[in-house]
Amino acid sequence: MTEKTLLLIKPEGVIRGLIGKVIARLERKGLNISAIKLLKMSKSQSEALYSIHKTKEFFPKLIDHMTSSPIIAMVIEGPKVVSIIRAMIGATDPQDAAPGTIRAEFALNKTQNIVHASDSSKNATREIYIFFNQEEIISYEKPTEIEFLIGKIKEK
Ligand code: CMP
Repeated sequence: MTEKTLLLIKPEGVIRGLIGKVIARLERKGLNISAIKLLKMSKSQSEALYSIHKTKEFFPKLIDHMTSSPIIAMVIEGPKVVSIIRAMIGATDPQDAAPGTIRAEFALNKTQNIVHASDSSKNATREIYIFFNQEEIISYEKPTEIEFLIGKIKEK
């Protein structure tokens, strides 16, 4: 079954020029980007996104960081995409992130950990609509690699 998830490239990811590197991994995996925008997160968006962490001691630092400069917000779509993206980004603390994951490769610490992704399909639905409205999310089918190649042969 096709799922949607929210993936953010955090302020330090944008500043450090990692947008292309993150998106290249999504494309290499064959995932669909159904919506994408650059925005500066408002305090209310950031507090809504991280509402479950409201009582944590790191909450003010997290909100300050997330609102400090622009982010990239994306909706990614595909079968089992929530767990696929979580596996691709790695653990919250880059020191615990599995080798080859985005956070293992690029992240500095738990606050500046480059990306955010929804941890469940239910949370994804809530998180996506903090950033996007229904009209901005465009689902589409991509041909498989073999279908694409057959199409190219037929063109010749
Ligand atoms: P993210 O996946 O965006 O979801 C919650 C964020 O809270 C997490 O990534 C971290 O950036 C941040 N976070 C979680 N735990 C800590 C911590 N102990 N100290 C600082 N930031 C944290």
